[in-house]
Amino acid sequence: MTKETKLYRITSIAADGAALDEAARLLREGRLVALPTETVYGLGADAANPDAVASIFAAKGRPQDNPLIVHICSMEMLPLVAREVPPQAKALAAQFWPGPLTMILPKTDYIPSITSAGLDTVAVRYPSHPIALELIRRAGRPIAAPSANLSGSPSTTTAQHCVNDLTGRVDAIVDGGSCTVGLESTVISLTGPVPRLLRPGAVTPEALRAVLGLLEIDCAVTGQLEPGEKAASPGMKYKHYAPSCQLLLLEGSGDAFQTYVNRQAQAEPAVFALCYEEDTGALQCPCIALGARADEAAQAAHLFDCLRELDRRGAKTVYAHCPDRKGVGLALYNRLIRAAAFQVIRLP
Ligand code: TXA
Ligand code: MG
Repeated sequence: MTKETKLYRITSIAADGAALDEAARLLREGRLVALPTETVYGLGADAANPDAVASIFAAKGRPQDNPLIVHICSMEMLPLVAREVPPQAKALAAQFWPGPLTMILPKTDYIPSITSAGLDTVAVRYPSHPIALELIRRAGRPIAAPSANLSGSPSTTTAQHCVNDLTGRVDAIVDGGSCTVGLESTVISLTGPVPRLLRPGAVTPEALRAVLGLLEIDCAVTGQLEPGEKAASPGMKYKHYAPSCQLLLLEGSGDAFQTYVNRQAQAEPAVFALCYEEDTGALQCPCIALGARADEAAQAAHLFDCLRELDRRGAKTVYAHCPDRKGVGLALYNRLIRAAAFQVIRLP
């Protein structure tokens, strides 16, 4: 399955209209185009074309039971994909769209069952990234896009990550620079009696509750499903976001973290720390800082690039400080705990 992969670098929508038109034409023809969004890069194809969608699953090596997010570029496009839009969904759209929020809604027949993995619901997102919006507009149709990484690897937040994972597997990569949010969208289901958070992201539970009042948090957000247990969001059941090195989360104070890591660095080879900027001076091993301790937005923006860098630098064992589960910290925790295959060490 080796394809020629074109690379389109977009510096401005006005100046690079021809490249955008070519990428949009590929999408209309049922081909695969990796494209930037404000969260992570997406691996896009025509959401209504079953062959195109099948090639997304093949290119990523993605299990067929894991449904895709369908991206729209206007509220006018929403009824094409969603059969019902309850008042709560309208209120969320008014507050957070365009932006990093995905809503699960009942699907229309426009969405083929391969896109929704056989479910009668569809995940819909109206992204805010100008290049994503422009490509959907020029393609003239909703675009299905999972994160543009090989299945199981960390999501891609730069065009270079996409080049590394997907060269020869996709028809084009549209380079729009680094993604500003850096973590995948918040996913919320509005198909049950109470809105349910399926995947945390930059739109926090606190912000959702301010609009909705009630919000349930699915147990897969912070915990591990038992073997055979059914996931509300199929993607949450897989080990995910994982670098090749072994990652362990350490829960405890900053001092306890430093002491533990420094002791392990004496005892084991190729120990790295995934830490905050404030920790780097005190750690006696190679370390990669996510950002300042109080700057969760910076930590989110850098997480996936840091995981990839740990592999590039040959890390064997990586100790990461366990984030607080508040605000964007919940999303960081959700990604890190999967990257660590749920291994947490509680420090005294
Ligand atoms: O920020 C994002 O959401 C990125 C960009 C490209 O938009 N996309 C992304 O897609 O992260 P993906 O496929 O990596 O994650 C989609 C998640 C998966 O966990 C999937 O199981 C869930 O959404 N999902 C999709 N459709 C669903 C549905 N109908 N019901 C429940 N969960 C659904
Ligand atoms: Mg993904």
